[in-house]
Amino acid sequence: MSNQIELKVPDIGDYKDVDVIEVFVKVGDTVKKDDSLITLETDKATMEVPASASGVVREVRLKVGDKASEGTIVAVIEVVEASAATAPSVASAPAAAPAPAPAAAPAAAPAAAGGSAELKVPDIGDYKEVDVIEVFVKVGDTVKKDDSLITLETDKATMEVPASVGGVVTELRVAVGDKVSEGKVIAIVTTSGGSVVAAAPAPVAPAAAPAPAAAPAAAAPKPAPVAAPAAPVDATSFKAAHASPSVRKFARELGVDLSRVKGSGPKSRIVASDVQAYVKSVMSGQAAAPAAASPGGGAGLDLLPWPKVDFAKFGPIETKPLSRIKKISGANLARNWVMIPHVTQFDEADITEMEAFRKQMGEELKKQDLKLTPLAFLVKACVAALKKFPEFNASLDGDNLVLKQYFHIGFAADTPNGLVVPVIRDADKKSLIEIANETGALAGKARDGKLAPADMQGGCFSISSLGGVGGTAFTPIVNAPEVAILGVSKSSIKPVWNGKEFAPRLMLPLSLSYDHRVIDGASAARFTTYLSQVLGDIRRLML
Ligand code: COA
Repeated sequence: MSNQIELKVPDIGDYKDVDVIEVFVKVGDTVKKDDSLITLETDKATMEVPASASGVVREVRLKVGDKASEGTIVAVIEVVEASAATAPSVASAPAAAPAPAPAAAPAAAPAAAGGSAELKVPDIGDYKEVDVIEVFVKVGDTVKKDDSLITLETDKATMEVPASVGGVVTELRVAVGDKVSEGKVIAIVTTSGGSVVAAAPAPVAPAAAPAPAAAPAAAAPKPAPVAAPAAPVDATSFKAAHASPSVRKFARELGVDLSRVKGSGPKSRIVASDVQAYVKSVMSGQAAAPAAASPGGGAGLDLLPWPKVDFAKFGPIETKPLSRIKKISGANLARNWVMIPHVTQFDEADITEMEAFRKQMGEELKKQDLKLTPLAFLVKACVAALKKFPEFNASLDGDNLVLKQYFHIGFAADTPNGLVVPVIRDADKKSLIEIANETGALAGKARDGKLAPADMQGGCFSISSLGGVGGTAFTPIVNAPEVAILGVSKSSIKPVWNGKEFAPRLMLPLSLSYDHRVIDGASAARFTTYLSQVLGDIRRLML
């Protein structure tokens, strides 16, 4: 039995007729509870509206450009039996579980003559230790009541905290990057008319319900800080820019000043591809790097727009939205491709003996219902190479290289929704069979869309194996903040000269892409040479 329910806009404070700027779902999609449905944007904040229940989307009632208020129906879903039992009944279901709207903060205490006031973080619902992403004031500034002081960002929403009273800022107690909770003093102001100890009024937007969506692996790692274009980002640019929290975050990660980016979305909203296009243009010299640009921008900042073509003019077409995984991993891949100077080193490993051993073991293991694929050997061989060449097991952190003493190996897994990279933790401490079992289990979970964020985090180095599919070589993209990735193509029998004659050997093509800021070409050649030796004689794995 199934049941339909309406997913509605929850309590969003005093806001009415708020712009819908993104719609993440379409008819036929399966949504899980807390998946984001839409993004709403007011003049002060953006917030994602999560689903209050899981099910299959039967109707989407909002589109980009629509206006929504509390109670507006976003979508109608059909819930399956288990959840239907607990879900509200049919069409007249109540609004989606309201996001924890911050309770109204206590009003400022009555003013007394000529004193100072503490401006504090008000009640922000269940959130604690929330990131401060913007600070709009500095010591000496005069702020008026309701002027924005800072922006806070959770994984789902940004909210600006306004001043509860006006005055001159004499002390600033928070900085970008700090984490704050309710009650934290943001600033001290001297008030002209009185002494006030006040909580700031409630932030201008409620925080949407926390919903750590299962992010694909590519989105999980924090990117390494990048050298260019990393001029300090002007906080006020974020205030003025018209972009969703995820795009703002993306821009911050790249050090991009959003005021320099042209938006191609509705109402000139900046979308991730605009940020990518901007970075690309800076890297290619089409646009001036922010550090060199004049404050008002310049002719060099006019970017070539993405070509807009009416494809239907040339023949029949079908338009399909990208999956959420593709959208997120696409943004990460584009960033990594643009920001990391890639070089790919090609090599071949003679895996004749390894394959003979694998096949022999395969027969024995089959009886125990276990499968040993070349991937397990590759993971082990990579661990050996990472131990020998530690700069491959590293991440850039500004001017420092962080060398890891653990060996968590990611592997790209192809799924119907796109590419994900589950991680085998502590691969150095696991046997070939344990690794084979774990890769099989993780690949299965990936295909079923059941990977948890933790399954995809903490990777040191990635392997992308297309050996089961085909091809002779390819250039994988480094999975930041890692510094190298091994691409593996299909092995084939080749004639190899053994000093006396050509002998038929099974050769495995290897393509090692690396971040040239960290790894020199000679090191990469040594790495693949060593890897080939290990794969060529797997007894070395025991050394
Ligand atoms: N050369 C020849 N054959 C190979 C091979 C190679 N390099 N690697 C694997 N094979 C064989 C396997 O032995 C297996 O054959 P068998 O069933 O006869 O034993 C067959 O190909 C299929 O292997 P597969 O199921 O793919 O297992 P795997 O352990 O090699 O790979 C995944 C598991 C998850 C990595 C794989 O399924 C996958 O998703 N690969 C795609 C990764 C990707 O998209 N990368 C691109 C990123 S840009």
